Amino acid sequence: MKILIIGGTNFIGPPVVRQLCAMGHEVTVFNRGQTHADLPSQVNYIKGDRNNLKEFKLEFERLAPQIVLDTILYTEADAKTLMDTFRGIAQRIVAVSSMDVYRAYDVLWKRENEIVPTPLTEDSPLRQHFYPFRNMPNQPFDRMEDYEKILAERVVMADPTLLGTIIRLPMVYGIDDFLHRFYVYLKRMADRRPVILLEESVAQWCGSYGYVENVARAIALAVTNERAINRIYHVAETQAISQLEYIHQIGKIVGWQGNAIALNKDSFPAEWESGLNFKQHWVVDSSRIRQELNYEEIIPVDEALEKTIAWQLSNHPNERSFWEVPYLLDYATEDKILSEL
Ligand SMILES: NC(=O)c1ccc[n+]([C@@H]2O[C@H](COP(=O)([O-])OP(=O)(O)OC[C@H]3O[C@@H](n4cnc5c(N)ncnc54)[C@H](OP(=O)(O)O)[C@@H]3O)[C@@H](O)[C@H]2O)c1
Repeated sequence: MKILIIGGTNFIGPPVVRQLCAMGHEVTVFNRGQTHADLPSQVNYIKGDRNNLKEFKLEFERLAPQIVLDTILYTEADAKTLMDTFRGIAQRIVAVSSMDVYRAYDVLWKRENEIVPTPLTEDSPLRQHFYPFRNMPNQPFDRMEDYEKILAERVVMADPTLLGTIIRLPMVYGIDDFLHRFYVYLKRMADRRPVILLEESVAQWCGSYGYVENVARAIALAVTNERAINRIYHVAETQAISQLEYIHQIGKIVGWQGNAIALNKDSFPAEWESGLNFKQHWVVDSSRIRQELNYEEIIPVDEALEKTIAWQLSNHPNERSFWEVPYLLDYATEDKILSEL
């Protein structure tokens, strides 16, 4: 099968490319050539900016991909351009989306009050307010103002001649994770901190995660299996554990001797308030992709966490990320809180 991938060289893209090549497919990646990855030698490249996608139409016609996988589809406008460009060329678009489409995400960000029961299914209620990162103070991921996966998904699923598949990702961790998920715990353990303090609701909070190689497996199945036509899928680990349990698991892997302690919100300085409502869990059910596409993890979860930790211990974050807010590693204040207990 001829597959064109828009993106493909940052975090989630490379394992998808590798797995599709290993399955015997012909893969071409389209990107600006600024982000580099070690991809199999048979991969073809088209260098270009998705903001000028239509200018490459002749090249795409010559390539004639059956499937276009868009790993970086963020806006409605980009989705419209995508469909206009590949209508009459490809048979199907597979778009990488996110769990941020659900109403639960707005509850988590305190934009809505009523807790949504979890696990969420692919039919759970979506956010009622568009553009989740617009005008957001301390905006977490440098997202563009018109970021809205709900609208992008709608465009991809609405075309009777160019079919669509959506895959909604959980929080993805693993090698090359630019968000360095779990780093704040790991860093404290590496610094031999005797105690990790957590606000009670954070300690109990559960969210769905997926290891990058496993997520890539799910995407590769959605790309190559016709059963995925007109379908929306979650991918996530079957068990969503709390942050406290993550600390225990990570601690066990690195041999940390300390304790994690959950404290009432009032124990922490007001400026540490995250702005999130951690009473809203962010857990999704992934049985649909398991049943319909026979998805299962190719790397067991324990091994996935071990690999991630080994990578993170030798690759410290060097860019702003959600978890690098300075107070999250403010040991002096933590020691003061502990001394007052
Ligand atoms: N990480 C998570 O936890 C998580 C959770 C939910 C959803 N997601 C979704 O996962 C997706 C994957 O992100 P990823 O970074 O891992 O994907 P990726 O496919 O590994 O990398 C992104 C690619 O996009 C290319 N690119 C960026 N801007 C471009 C442009 N203007 N024109 C053409 N190419 C461009 C980059 O190459 P160049 O720089 O060379 O152009 C790079 O190849 C995103 O849609 C994100 O919303 C991620």
